[in-house]
Amino acid sequence: MHIRPRSDDDLRQLVEVLRRTHDQDGYPAHWPNDPASWLTPPGHLTAWTAWSSGTAVGHVGLAAPDRDAASLVTRLVVHPDHRGRGIADALLATAEAAAGTACAVPALRLDVTEETPGAWRLYERRGWRLTHRAPADWAKPDGTVPTMRWYEKRLW
Ligand SMILES: CC(C)(COP(=O)(O)OP(=O)(O)OC[C@H]1O[C@@H](n2cnc3c(N)ncnc32)[C@H](O)[C@@H]1OP(=O)(O)O)[C@@H](O)C(=O)NCCC(=O)NCCS
Repeated sequence: MHIRPRSDDDLRQLVEVLRRTHDQDGYPAHWPNDPASWLTPPGHLTAWTAWSSGTAVGHVGLAAPDRDAASLVTRLVVHPDHRGRGIADALLATAEAAAGTACAVPALRLDVTEETPGAWRLYERRGWRLTHRAPADWAKPDGTVPTMRWYEKRLW
């Protein structure tokens, strides 16, 4: 497995990773009209693709949608067939290292639903600190509004 900066050519395969994840995990909760654009959210700074045997298997991005708040880790996703091998851990390590150096960002934040302990255990293991819980600003297809856990990690 190796990780490299995302290129536009990666997006076709990454949309397939996202499709499998949506079907299996309900992430994202609503399938986007334009999934490639969804992987490039407002304030997008940069992103990375994880590769295994020539296939894109994971993705993470950094975004700064709000000048007055810390940058965000976004769109962390690993193909269901490639989980439990440390790919998400390696993607996060890459994003954190780049944010602290190349992007000169002092801290990062992210949100994750209360319902995905597999994801937030990973963040806590990597030293992310739970700052607060708050209702999401979106609803699931069944109409319920999930609780989001907000995390922060200081980089320097
Ligand atoms: C959350 C997600 C990104 C994790 O991806 P992953 O690559 O499987 O994550 P990792 O392999 O780094 O860690 C997952 C588990 O495998 C374990 N693991 C990692 N490397 C391992 C190895 N070499 N051998 C055995 N276990 C290993 C980790 O300890 C972790 O265990 P835990 O679940 O008990 O905490 C993935 O499940 C996913 O895409 N979920 C759906 C989308 C989502 O929720 N994204 C987050 C939105 S905020």
